[in-house]
Formats: sequence, structure tokens, C-alpha cells
Amino acid sequence: MSTLLKVVSLYCGYGADEIIHGVDLHVAPGEIVTILGPNGCGKTTLVKAILGYVRAKKGSILFRDANITQLPPTERVARGIGYVPQLLNTFKPLTVVENLELGGYRLSSAGRHAAIERMFALFPLLAERRSQRAATLSGGERQLLAMARALIVSPSLVFLDEPSAGLSPVRADEVFQHVRAIAAANVAVVIVEQDVHRALEVSDRAYVLVTGRVVLHGPAADIAVDERVRGAYLGVRETPRPSEVIQQERQGG
Ligand SMILES: Nc1ncnc2c1ncn2[C@@H]1O[C@H](COP(=O)(O)OP(=O)(O)OP(=O)(O)O)[C@@H](O)[C@H]1O
Ligand SMILES: [Mg+2]
Repeated sequence: MSTLLKVVSLYCGYGADEIIHGVDLHVAPGEIVTILGPNGCGKTTLVKAILGYVRAKKGSILFRDANITQLPPTERVARGIGYVPQLLNTFKPLTVVENLELGGYRLSSAGRHAAIERMFALFPLLAERRSQRAATLSGGERQLLAMARALIVSPSLVFLDEPSAGLSPVRADEVFQHVRAIAAANVAVVIVEQDVHRALEVSDRAYVLVTGRVVLHGPAADIAVDERVRGAYLGVRETPRPSEVIQQERQGG
């Protein structure tokens, strides 16, 4: 499969504080990729560097084979990279429609109108609440609005930073169902998620980041059963296998 995004040996951080130490990562068209790792390991920083909000110190970022490492965020978005930040991802005083109009401000008015209708078809819940202010939406509805706002300009790749944070299980399920629908429309999705179970379930591949380095990557199904990942992130304690228990009993252990 061809590559949509390719990050090569990326180093970045804040001032003298280097957070990302040589990360390699790639995303194919329509693929769902999860980035997981402990709090503070640099997941958000990595995403911000790919979007251009954090400057790369070394390494390169290629999107559709073009080097975008030095481009400002607005130009990366214009080339088709969408971003739903971890926090502050909607304009709360504005209505649902106004939020979507703002997301599509670069489009012609006819294009914007059509795009908003497409988003209402994809997120029927938002259509029902089109005149409601974002401030009065539930957390889950607001997350869907943030996703719709990022998708309105038809990106080919979208980053979702902690899309299920603070949501009930039912609402989180809705968000992940939408992730599947988005990818089915050939939009690649990169998810940063605390809910490792749900994220791996919908993902094709995953990267595990620890203190700014990729320590493990591969098919999501393999990462989900990896003992190191299970122990650290999936809350699975290592339990002895039945044969080991029998062995211990025989030895009187
Ligand atoms: N604007 C900033 N200035 C200085 N240091 C920062 C800034 N933003 C983040 N950091 C630091 O960079 C490190 C990585 O933070 P980052 O937000 O990328 O982690 P994360 O993996 O997304 O964590 P979480 O799972 O908690 O969201 C942390 O030590 C954090 O304190
Ligand atoms: Mg983060």
C-alpha cells in the first residue's frame, strides 16, 4: 500500500527540552493508526509537530511525498491534514452550524453548505442540534462536533487526540463507530487514546511511545496481545498459566 504520511527520524520539543527523540512513523490512505503510551511520553507533542504547531529540530515529515517539515500549520491543513486537539476543540458560544461554518471558512459558500449537509448525514445527532450552542452539548456531542469540524474540508488524514476522554462507555462507542465510518470513506485516522482497548479494536496498526521513542509498533491485533502492552496499559495482570500452577503445586509451591 502507498504511504500518505511518512515521519522520518523526527526530533522536537520545547526550547532546550527535547521530548521526541527520533520517531519514525507512517500512515497509509484510509488506515486507522493508534499512538499509545504513558502520560507525558510525548504523544500530543508528536501530533503537534506533524501539524506544525511544534517545530521539528531534526528529521522530516512527508505528506503525499511532499516535504512539509517547514510548512506552517495552515498550509498543512490546506493540503489535507485535519486535527482535533485534546482540549478546547469547539467554540462554545457558537451554535453547531456556526462551528461547522467556521471549520469550512476556506470553502465557497455553496461548497460549505454542501459540506455541512454531508457532516449532518455522517453525524445525524448534530443535525438534530444544529441551532444549539456548543456550550450546551454533552461532552460526547461536542466531541462529534469537533470531529465534524475537522472533516468539513475533506482532509485525507485526521488526527484525533484523546477523542473519548471524559465520555461514558456508550458515548465512547459512538465516537469509535464514527472513526470506522470516517476511515471507510478513505480518510486515514490517527488516534491518540487512553482507552487502549477500544482504540486497538478499531485500528489497523499501532505505535507504542515511551519517553519520546517508539518502543513497539505493528498490527493492532498483535499489539493488543503483547504482554508488555497488556501489563502496562490494558490493566491485565500477568497470571500464571494452568500448566505453571500445576507445576508449582507438584513442587509444593
Ligand atoms: N508547551 C509546552 N512547553 C513545555 N513543555 C511541554 C509543553 N507541552 C508539553 N510539555 C511537556 O512535554 C512532555 C510531553 O507532553 P505531551 O503533552 O506531549 O504528552 P502526552 O503523551 O500527550 O501526555 P498525556 O497522555 O497526558 O496527554 C511532558 O513532559 C510535558 O510536560
Ligand atoms: Mg496528550
